[in-house]
Amino acid sequence: MFDSLPGFRDFPPEACARRNHLFRVFRTVARAFDFKEYDAPVLEPLDLYVEKSGEEIVGQLFHFLDKGERKVALRPELTPTLARMVAARANSLAKPIKWFNVGEHFRYERPQKGRGRSFYQFNADLLGESDTGADAELIALLVAIFETLGLSQTDFRVRLSDRRTWILFLDALGVSEQARPKVLDAIDKSGRRKPEQTVESLEQAMPGKGRHLQDEIEKIKRIRSLDDLLAKIETCGEEAPGTASSWKELMSLLEAHGVLPYIEIDLSIVRGLAYYTGFVYEAFEASGEGRALAGGGRYDHLLKKLSGNVDLPACGFAIGDMTLSDCLESKNLLPNYIMAPDLFLIAGEGQRKLGISIASQVRKGGFSISYSLKQVGFGKQFKEAGKSGARYALIVGEDEENSNQVKIKDLRSSGEITTPQNSLLAKLDEFDSEGGIQE
Ligand code: HAM
Repeated sequence: MFDSLPGFRDFPPEACARRNHLFRVFRTVARAFDFKEYDAPVLEPLDLYVEKSGEEIVGQLFHFLDKGERKVALRPELTPTLARMVAARANSLAKPIKWFNVGEHFRYERPQKGRGRSFYQFNADLLGESDTGADAELIALLVAIFETLGLSQTDFRVRLSDRRTWILFLDALGVSEQARPKVLDAIDKSGRRKPEQTVESLEQAMPGKGRHLQDEIEKIKRIRSLDDLLAKIETCGEEAPGTASSWKELMSLLEAHGVLPYIEIDLSIVRGLAYYTGFVYEAFEASGEGRALAGGGRYDHLLKKLSGNVDLPACGFAIGDMTLSDCLESKNLLPNYIMAPDLFLIAGEGQRKLGISIASQVRKGGFSISYSLKQVGFGKQFKEAGKSGARYALIVGEDEENSNQVKIKDLRSSGEITTPQNSLLAKLDEFDSEGGIQE
């Protein structure tokens, strides 16, 4: 017996139906926002991720040498691939580019609740627009997806932060450009570490200043209102007015989108990925429990970094399927799918082949139909029909064969009608809209 690998999931039909429910909502809502679906390879050159995604993800790569001695990696995320794809076609694409994808990703993480080594992400990205309107559009899309799945204000929050604001604050605290990445990394990890560990990392980045930086950073992390944030920004020199006005603009756009109640200003969010340059956010359950449901932000320099010549502003986010399914399940918001056929064929011994040919017409007409695969009596066939969950039985016995008709029995109400074989599909279409046959 073989087991699946740790962190990889099987999807038997019920699990697959639940997963597809998420995917359907992702696609429907993304299309309502006029995003276009795209797809890309799951295997990429290893170098695409080294330096671009950041240390944490690179440490989690599934990578190997292929038979052509190429260093390759299973994609841990989609953003570098998207940047590569768009940069290669930048001249021929109408801007802004609004693309989405639903696909599998791989990270060699320690499997735990909400974290696997294979998981699905919905990615939505908007490229070619530096205006805050693009950031707002994406956050509104994220919220609309969660709302469509049945989540409300009591269920989740989007924690909003900004890397530029952090740079402004760190500059004011005397953190050099060189020390900045280490300090941002320490801030990113500070929520998951003991304070002493954070002080130690800060001390390494800025010798002699670890404790002071930690105190100041903790104060900034406690800011929750726009007014307090703007007041703090105002103390920070030349860049302050631009940063303050983009915060005001974003918050007023989010209000117009009707999503402000979900937003929490929270500068403890910095995001682990190296390429973010502006507003960043993560969605969490309102209770604060569990790992992030989604995360994203602006990454204005990634295309230039990857391509060398194409410079396009960009922003986007990804929702993971694992934490989201856990969250929906705990709130009873995952539908119980009945994967039943529309009809079940019940045929007499001499009418089996006629029945199968009628069933094939029914299938071509867009209805699903099943039947007993070996010849058994009427009683057993009815039993199987009941087990299948089909709403209707399609009965072809001797009488029906002789009169070129079929009988349709509603297995819920027991009502039945007889209809000519050649108008069966039209009749089924009627049921589809009316629902059921009266007894
Ligand atoms: P990320 O925060 O690394 O961002 O991942 C986004 C979401 O994917 C997470 O919030 C989580 O739900 C899910 N996820 C990540 N790793 C795992 C795992 N090992 N198991 C289960 N779920 C996981 C990104 O990937 C960025 N590329 C998002 C983005 C798109 N930024 C701009 N555009």
